[in-house]
Amino acid sequence: MIRFGHLDIDFDERVLRPRAWTARQSEWAAELSAGLPDGPMLELCSGAGQIGLLAASMTSRRLVCVDANPVACAFTRANAERAGLADLVEVRHGSMEHALDPDERFCLVIADPPWVPTAQVERYPEDPRTAIDGGADGMLVAEACLDTIDRHLSPDGSAVLQLGTAAQAARLREMVGDLRVQEIRDSPGEGVLVHLARAAESSMSGDPSGYRRAEGKVG
Ligand SMILES: C[S@@+](CC[C@H](N)C(=O)[O-])C[C@H]1O[C@@H](n2cnc3c(N)ncnc32)[C@H](O)[C@@H]1O
Repeated sequence: MIRFGHLDIDFDERVLRPRAWTARQSEWAAELSAGLPDGPMLELCSGAGQIGLLAASMTSRRLVCVDANPVACAFTRANAERAGLADLVEVRHGSMEHALDPDERFCLVIADPPWVPTAQVERYPEDPRTAIDGGADGMLVAEACLDTIDRHLSPDGSAVLQLGTAAQAARLREMVGDLRVQEIRDSPGEGVLVHLARAAESSMSGDPSGYRRAEGKVG
């Protein structure tokens, strides 16, 4: 058990150990929530669920959590129950490509994909490989998240995506399409958070970045 914000979060070695700095992702989502319409929030790659649960506790929005690891989903359900949030939270086990109905829309999305390049995963022997392996450049599952966000973000919605490094965030900026990078917050040595919105809703002028829909699927 670990303290995450004001929540007690249970986990074990089969899921990623909650990282204290990632409470900033919950806090940023809650900050953005204040300016968004009512509606549910989506968390992709939720693990033990702490980032989304902390955001849900701060916003009182309904939360749909998606993770491919059934153990992670069980922890999220138990952690939601312990936090008194079970009525707000729906946990879906499966890959993000299959866990959502095509017509579901969310005005707020949190995403925390694996982002360690495959060649570096051996540096983290204590972490489950499926929780950290982001493919050759660490962006494989992040790209699947972008695709899912593009499909399911409501027109005026916001998403906060976690990556590992500023270089990965710079790569994200190079991708073109219907999403736009609004702001990047770097916590050097820990990770990077990226605020995404639809290009039409962007208020940041002069930023040519956006998201090109991924052609591949991540199973
Ligand atoms: C970096 S961990 C994040 C977990 C949690 N948010 C945390 O901070 O501890 C990534 C999570 O993504 C999940 N995952 C990987 N690929 C996925 C996919 N295609 N669809 C849904 N979940 C996926 C893994 O099972 C893992 O729990």
